[in-house]
Amino acid sequence: MIDKIKEYITEVEQFTSSDKEEIEAFRIRYLGKKGVLNDFFAAFKSVPNGEKKEFGQAVNHLKNAAQEKVNALKEALESQADQKSIYGDLTRPAEPIPLGARHPISIVKNQIIDIFSRIGFNVSEGPEIEDDWHNFTALNLPEYHPARDMQDTFFIQTDPDILLRTHTSSVQVRYMEEHKPPIRTISPGRVYRNEAISARSHCFFHQVEGLYIDKGVSFADLKQTLQYFTKEMFGKSKIRLRPSYFPFTEPSAEVDVYWGLETESDYKITKGTGWLEIMGCGMVDPNVLKNCNIDSTEYSGFAFGIGIDRIAMLLHQIPDIRMLSENDVRFLGQFKSVL
Ligand code: PHE
Repeated sequence: MIDKIKEYITEVEQFTSSDKEEIEAFRIRYLGKKGVLNDFFAAFKSVPNGEKKEFGQAVNHLKNAAQEKVNALKEALESQADQKSIYGDLTRPAEPIPLGARHPISIVKNQIIDIFSRIGFNVSEGPEIEDDWHNFTALNLPEYHPARDMQDTFFIQTDPDILLRTHTSSVQVRYMEEHKPPIRTISPGRVYRNEAISARSHCFFHQVEGLYIDKGVSFADLKQTLQYFTKEMFGKSKIRLRPSYFPFTEPSAEVDVYWGLETESDYKITKGTGWLEIMGCGMVDPNVLKNCNIDSTEYSGFAFGIGIDRIAMLLHQIPDIRMLSENDVRFLGQFKSVL
């Protein structure tokens, strides 16, 4: 019987497996209730007294060897599983990482910045919470001036001097206060107006305003710049300037671009006229230059303001301005292919 036990011991020592079920079968075969070891223990009684010691030792040896083997194999199996969970299967194809999309407001804003930076305009930014001076007074809109009503304003209740900027012209005032001409800057940013929210207007929207100040800047320069812009932005260079009024520019104009009447949608967006209003502009009022410590007898300049949201809606056929601020991924995901 001792020989039989020794045979088992060699068998145990030689056994190896990395299969969970095989290891379990091995354990049951040796250590299970009806296993090899139990048979030997049961046989212990019938072993002659003189051999009991040697037999007992051999059985114990077998038991320990089997137990150790099971433990060692199980441990190896577990550490292998651990490694798998850290590294995964390195040969597996990679999981696709979902890419975000740029917001249509950013797409259009970047396009406008790109177009003006090609002709030497830099980008300036300023605070959205402004004081009265930078948003109104410096721009030739003194207190109680009726033109302030053109832009319904959110004031801070406890301090009427502080407000949410109604246009980024405020940034241009700051820029003129800090820089000497020649100045060529565009100011993109979010602006706020106390307006009823609908599909066409919101209480906040986005603008890019431009400012060019140097010696001898004329209305012709303004027109050329606008034409360059509409050509680059829309591929259309037929524009017209309609006289208008802004307190900070004189003369002032509204810019229309000829969109054409080729498709049904052209009819819709131009209300059957072919013309589309895209921005306001004018020659900077000498009073504004004076307010910003720029000598108005030496320098002149022009300014313009474009609404980004409207242009984004136009170019990307967005029917409702509120979609631009709802952050619905089903909407935003549609701009994936646009740079
Ligand atoms: N600030 C004007 C607005 O918000 C736009 C504008 C800018 C008009 C510059 C003329 C010149 O409506």
